Amino acid sequence: MKIDKTSPVGVFDSGVGGLTVAREIMRNLPSEKIVYFGDTARVPYGSKSKDTIIRYSRQICHFLKEQGVKAIVIACNTASAFALDAVKENSEIPVLGVIESGARVAAKETVNKKVGVIGTVGTISSGIHAEYLRRLNPEITVIGKACPLFVPLVEEGWLHDPVTVEVATRYLKELKQKEIDTLILGCTHYPLIRSTIREVMGEKVRLVNPAYETALELKELLQKMDLLNTEEKQEDFPYRFYVSDLADEFKDFANSILPYDVEMTKKIDIEKY
Ligand code: DGL
Repeated sequence: MKIDKTSPVGVFDSGVGGLTVAREIMRNLPSEKIVYFGDTARVPYGSKSKDTIIRYSRQICHFLKEQGVKAIVIACNTASAFALDAVKENSEIPVLGVIESGARVAAKETVNKKVGVIGTVGTISSGIHAEYLRRLNPEITVIGKACPLFVPLVEEGWLHDPVTVEVATRYLKELKQKEIDTLILGCTHYPLIRSTIREVMGEKVRLVNPAYETALELKELLQKMDLLNTEEKQEDFPYRFYVSDLADEFKDFANSILPYDVEMTKKIDIEKY
């Protein structure tokens, strides 16, 4: 399939969480078309092994390439941590993850050189943020904390709820005690409870949202490769959504957080890829 500036960008995640990244791409690159895939049949990724996540990510990239995408954004932090290198290998189109851009901003923002990272068990145990951050500045101390209950709380819609505040208070206690001044929201769902995290961490801690930073990085990359869509007018249906299960539930969640009305979500058999 011929790829040019008007080809869509592929975005994928284990489910609905990556919509926080798609949302930033819609806001910051309004001329770009998007093909989104949410692996709703195999979510969560955060508690699965590296080998499994690499296999899933390869299948999804295969599917997205078949849709004629010009670049792929791995919106899922766990998949970025485990599978970015594997899917980049031999890829004829650029593939971006969400870890590096968040780490870069955190390294720039921290003053006391104490950076916290929160994410799934997989992302935190991979130690990938610490790896990037120390490469950028060896003086930085990185304190990671897995917060597995945040994902179900967000999916339950308990974004501003006393239970979520209580869970956040317990998870974030150690990061507060260690006096971090910068916190990376290293999971797709966490920007949706940003205000709760802000309430618990206090005003002084800088919260880094990798979804926003990744959208800016994508823009730069497309510009550099002369692949940025410069067309003024968007098509009638610029965003296509695919899932591996529960298409209607996905659509409902998408409509609750996107600045765009999702009319159709299509279920596909990802195991075929
Ligand atoms: N999308 C995942 C991430 O950002 C969170 C949900 C999951 O565990 O699949 O790591």
